Amino acid sequence: MLSELPHSPAAERNKAPILEQLQRVLPRDAIVLEIASGTGQHVAHFAAACPQQTWQPSDPDALNVLSTATRCDQARLYNVHPPLQLDVHQSPWRVTDECDAVFCANLIHIAPWSATAALLAGAGRVLRADGPGLVVLYGPFREGGRHTAPSNEAFDTSLRARNPDWGVRDLEAVTALAAAQGFRVHSLARLPANNLLVVFARQPGSTTPAAA
Ligand SMILES: C[S@@+](CC[C@H](N)C(=O)[O-])C[C@H]1O[C@@H](n2cnc3c(N)ncnc32)[C@H](O)[C@@H]1O
Repeated sequence: MLSELPHSPAAERNKAPILEQLQRVLPRDAIVLEIASGTGQHVAHFAAACPQQTWQPSDPDALNVLSTATRCDQARLYNVHPPLQLDVHQSPWRVTDECDAVFCANLIHIAPWSATAALLAGAGRVLRADGPGLVVLYGPFREGGRHTAPSNEAFDTSLRARNPDWGVRDLEAVTALAAAQGFRVHSLARLPANNLLVVFARQPGSTTPAAA
């Protein structure tokens, strides 16, 4: 257990608007796999607000796994499974339950493009066939080949300076990748600070393509 938990001011600011959207799209009793849980602030907030849902957090970073476990234990969140150490590039994802939805905030711009492909392919394999088959992505996106705000453009420049393989992604490119995995855009919400919450739903009758 950690005595002092890592804290993300951004997660603290955006958790309420994200939750408002999740409550519109996720079934009341959904089993949700969270990819890239970070500090665990998001899952702790969402699981506390939605006690009938079951949340499975995950992150490749051991400190984030410990932070999420500690935060959820301290809040006595019995609807949160112990976090998994999971990198989207792993195949298969070692998850115990098939899920109704995969939620992922602020990963795809801070990882190589291969992570977006791995995220969508992995989601296609863990979403149960008879469920709603949702993938929910939150973060900044370019739209129509342009940044949607100067702050997003500056953020993109700073990301690419840190790692040339990172960067704010084009919504159309992510949508095309999702379509190749059998998902279509179900809904899109504009959230504060020029972020989007994009919900993809598996198209009826689509089968999961072979592993990416
Ligand atoms: C900017 S943080 C976002 C954390 C949290 N989702 C949030 O919005 O506050 C990015 C997270 O992505 C995780 N991450 C980076 N590469 C990853 C990968 N290949 N697979 C899964 N998670 C990854 C990091 O460990 C980190 O927790």
